Amino acid sequence: SLLHDELAGDEVLVVSNREPYIHTKTAKGIEVRRPASGLVTAVEPVMRACSGTWIAHGAGTADRETVDENDRVQVPPKNPAYTLRRVWLSKEEEQGYYYGFANEGLWPLCHIAHVRPVFRSSDWEEYVKVNQRFADAVVAEANTEDPVVLVQDYHFALLPRMVREKLPKATIIMFWHIPWPNPESFGICPWREEILEGLLGNTLLGFHTPFHCKNFLETVDRYLETRIEHEASTISYGGDLTQVEPYPISIAWPEEPYPETIEESRESVRKELGLPRDHLMAIGVDRLDYTKGILERLQAVERMLELHPSMAGRFTMVQIAAPSRTSLEEYQNLEARVRQLAQRINSRFGASGIDPIMLKIEHYESDQVNRYYRAADICVVTSLHDGMNLVAKEFIASREDERGVLILSQFTGAARELHEALIINPYHVEQGADALYRALTMPEMEQRERMRSMRALVRDFNVYRWAGRMLLDAARLRRRERVTAKIH
Ligand code: G6P
Repeated sequence: SLLHDELAGDEVLVVSNREPYIHTKTAKGIEVRRPASGLVTAVEPVMRACSGTWIAHGAGTADRETVDENDRVQVPPKNPAYTLRRVWLSKEEEQGYYYGFANEGLWPLCHIAHVRPVFRSSDWEEYVKVNQRFADAVVAEANTEDPVVLVQDYHFALLPRMVREKLPKATIIMFWHIPWPNPESFGICPWREEILEGLLGNTLLGFHTPFHCKNFLETVDRYLETRIEHEASTISYGGDLTQVEPYPISIAWPEEPYPETIEESRESVRKELGLPRDHLMAIGVDRLDYTKGILERLQAVERMLELHPSMAGRFTMVQIAAPSRTSLEEYQNLEARVRQLAQRINSRFGASGIDPIMLKIEHYESDQVNRYYRAADICVVTSLHDGMNLVAKEFIASREDERGVLILSQFTGAARELHEALIINPYHVEQGADALYRALTMPEMEQRERMRSMRALVRDFNVYRWAGRMLLDAARLRRRERVTAKIH
């Protein structure tokens, strides 16, 4: 209802690369999956609450079979609440725009995880083309001249300006789900001016943290001729005004009861994994991505076992790693290195047939992930750099028993909010090892105190608040625009 008040009957269009429901052909028929994506985790509940149309790339092998003649399908499949409009990309478009410019260029550029960005002119051309195709889809789907367009992430840096050209009265809100780097780092991008100009087509541009906003303002200041009002956090460029604000993203607080109690999950998960009933367990849940610090995490486990040999055979780190962007070499290399390291640690410390590392390189649906969160003693997030990281918040939300310890990288947006986590520098293996041991031996009272205050924060600052605040700010800008239009 919060969202309905903000929207007051406005038309809402969301654009993202990743779709919230992927239909795939399997031996059992057509299956629907929710992809592993922080973006989808956050935006999907918001869309359910405000209906509208979500435009995204149709990536599933059965996607074409589930849409109508306008490429639309009502979702969620079991309980339709909004429209998903799919855009089809050719192999070359997907290669150049998604794998190439977005994920070999912008992704490492913005994360600074010491993987060198790759910039190819041919990728850039596809990126421009695909941005235009999605912008055209937005214009085609719009039924009014002033819709609220919610643009998601680094796949669409150029789209805001493209939409602005066709729908000058639209309120265009963009959220950048990944970090924004400092001006020097961003400056190596051969198309830095074009990207910044594209982004300044937005009415409102959101980042996770004030730090990312500051980096963005400084980047614009360095490379474009604009007028920046630092106090108001606005940028004027040409005739356009863009407001830049931090909106820390979050999750929907769980409302439905879980199918299993925490006790039941503790037992059934250990049984499933072949672990003893009282076994100590840490959980990691990530896409298999080099920004997530999975190698560093395993190294910390190894070091902890060196320092505390009595933990061998009593403790296991379960790492769920959803395969991601697997046609890119960096991701294939990472998988090989993660497997190797896990094997090495297991051969060193695998006592009485129990491995200290259990790698699950596969996709788990969210109810399975929840069971693992609830079964664990510790959740480990060691991103080398991460816009927010919603795994940390999901873990907290799942623990109504107020037990369990969160170990959290200081390089996540989440670390700016979740001060009661054990905050570590993932590059510092020794510190990671100490945090693991401290978590394993933390008194119940202390766990409870930390968990309780983190739960209160995540419950209050949920994803509806995230969206609500953006829409509220946008509504204010919209009114201002209408008023100034009358004056002139
Ligand atoms: C990050 C990005 C999202 C993306 C997700 C999964 O969270 O910010 O935009 O959807 O990773 O990556 P993928 O390439 O599979 O969509």
